[in-house]
Amino acid sequence: MLNFVKFTLRIYMLDLKGKNALVTGIANNRSIAWGIAQQLHKAGAKLGITYLPDSKGKMEKKVAELVEPLNPDLFVPCNVQNDEQIQSTFATIKEKWGKLDILIHCLAFANKDDLSGDFSQTGRAGFNLALEVSTYSLVQLAGAAKPLMTESGSIVTLTYLGGVRAIPNYNVMGIAKAGLEMSVRYLAAELGPNNIRVNAISAGPIRTLASSAVGGILDAIHHVEKVAPLRRTVTQQEVGNAAAFLCSDLASGITGQILYVDAGYEIMGM
Ligand SMILES: NC(=O)c1ccc[n+]([C@@H]2O[C@H](COP(=O)([O-])OP(=O)(O)OC[C@H]3O[C@@H](n4cnc5c(N)ncnc54)[C@H](O)[C@@H]3O)[C@@H](O)[C@H]2O)c1
Repeated sequence: MLNFVKFTLRIYMLDLKGKNALVTGIANNRSIAWGIAQQLHKAGAKLGITYLPDSKGKMEKKVAELVEPLNPDLFVPCNVQNDEQIQSTFATIKEKWGKLDILIHCLAFANKDDLSGDFSQTGRAGFNLALEVSTYSLVQLAGAAKPLMTESGSIVTLTYLGGVRAIPNYNVMGIAKAGLEMSVRYLAAELGPNNIRVNAISAGPIRTLASSAVGGILDAIHHVEKVAPLRRTVTQQEVGNAAAFLCSDLASGITGQILYVDAGYEIMGM
């Protein structure tokens, strides 16, 4: 009887106890990934955190200090342009945890020059870079996670409305996000039979390191504050709550979806 009550409570409460979660994309306390990591931790998940290493070790130190209160069980460098670091990240997970339940893909990059002005002037190298880091990385990380998601799995990535509509200055990142959203659907179709769900959150504009590279980001935020049904944009914590939901058993029937966490902005025509 007690077991039945525990099982029922687990299904109806947001409970990530016993789940191992890898969170990518924390750069600082404004990062959306930081909002997600905090909510996963609150729900009881065990955390593994990756950071983008730099030659002076500054990022490692900064992110390590930030995430310390969440007691991460794993803390590893992972530049998604570096195959060895990806392999080593998942080898560490296999060795230490044996299985992975949750993968948060919360990273993107494009040259600042390619995030303003005329889209038609985007160079080949900048185009390839944006798609490699922001889109292909999801495919690669999901492929590496698949054999470790032996019981079930939830993969969540972050996208933006600029992947489905032309938003001023978003340019090449819009193409990357369109590819990312389609990758979510192909991955969901492939991984579904293994009980691995793949979804994206399309977040409203939030001031972060990455978004500050997009020309006129403050104008975009002010526009959303005027027009969105909730008359504001969203917070990292709200995105984190939605991610925790998508990773939990409460979302067991949801895969291949783009969930808008944008104060309702996406529904508006004007
Ligand atoms: N901020 C927004 O308005 C907004 C809205 C919708 C979606 N998003 C998406 O959310 C995600 C997180 O961005 P954010 O806004 O929190 O900014 P952020 O700058 O805090 O996070 C971006 C992260 O990408 C990481 N990164 C860049 N290149 C990398 C590489 N080669 N290997 C590994 N990591 C790398 C950075 O280290 C950083 O942690 C991105 O996919 C972004 O497009 C952001």
